Amino acid sequence: MAGRLDGKVAVVTGAGGAMGAAMVRRFCAEGARVVAVDVNAAKDVLADELGERCVSFTADVASSLQVQAMLQTALDRFGRLDILCNNAAVQGYLRLTGDYEVEEFDRVMAVNARGVFLGMRYAIPIMLELGGGSIVNTASMAAKVAFPQLVAYSASKGAVMMMTKNAAVEYADRGIRVNCFCPGSIDTAMLNNMPQEYIDAVIAANPVKRVGRPEEIADLALFLASDESSFITGTEIMIDGGYTAL
Ligand SMILES: NC(=O)c1ccc[n+]([C@@H]2O[C@H](COP(=O)([O-])OP(=O)(O)OC[C@H]3O[C@@H](n4cnc5c(N)ncnc54)[C@H](O)[C@@H]3O)[C@@H](O)[C@H]2O)c1
Repeated sequence: MAGRLDGKVAVVTGAGGAMGAAMVRRFCAEGARVVAVDVNAAKDVLADELGERCVSFTADVASSLQVQAMLQTALDRFGRLDILCNNAAVQGYLRLTGDYEVEEFDRVMAVNARGVFLGMRYAIPIMLELGGGSIVNTASMAAKVAFPQLVAYSASKGAVMMMTKNAAVEYADRGIRVNCFCPGSIDTAMLNNMPQEYIDAVIAANPVKRVGRPEEIADLALFLASDESSFITGTEIMIDGGYTAL
């Protein structure tokens, strides 16, 4: 049976986390070849598990040189670049805005906002050369509604959403689509590192009364990455169990 990403080559950042790993698995299962990128080692285990369809690459997405090297790896190993999922991020600590240290703000912005910019900055010229592509950025419901004590994270995800729209409009007539999605609370290390009272509160406030699964995110990322979403660009899709609909 034909895969939904047959012949395509993807780069997925944050592939060492549960959400990124679910995307890599799903993309490979649908026929893509994938460069799994992270600063940690979990993506190496994932690549070993998936075999020749997947190669792991260590890169800090806040580094211009390392982002260029990660994209070059897709070209060197698989000969193409069709899909970029800018998914790596850090949450930063919880602190009120008036107490938030400037260094922590800069660290979060460097990974989450600059990292997404760099991915797009260096992938777009390659995609233009190859005739097009699909960029899928992971934002957050924190781009849409306030989450007290997460000023840097919220700012960074708002930036991801607007960078997505800008790039989408700039390249819409040249074959590159750029979309983002805004997850609610998803069962990954990022959420599970939060205080239990926080997790209980977000579940209680969520219309579906549960957290999301990384596989549910991967299904949406697959749709946005694939040609099935060919008329969708510049959008931010909520995937939050209805949290922001209230
Ligand atoms: N889990 C949630 O509830 C939730 C909600 C909304 C949005 N998100 C977003 O989903 C995405 C995936 O997060 P997750 O929940 O899987 O979190 P996670 O912390 O489990 O995974 C994030 C991964 O990014 C990697 N990473 C961090 N800094 C990096 C850097 N500088 N360069 C390369 N890789 C780096 C980490 O090593 C980690 O493996 C993130 O963009 C996050 O902001 C998560």
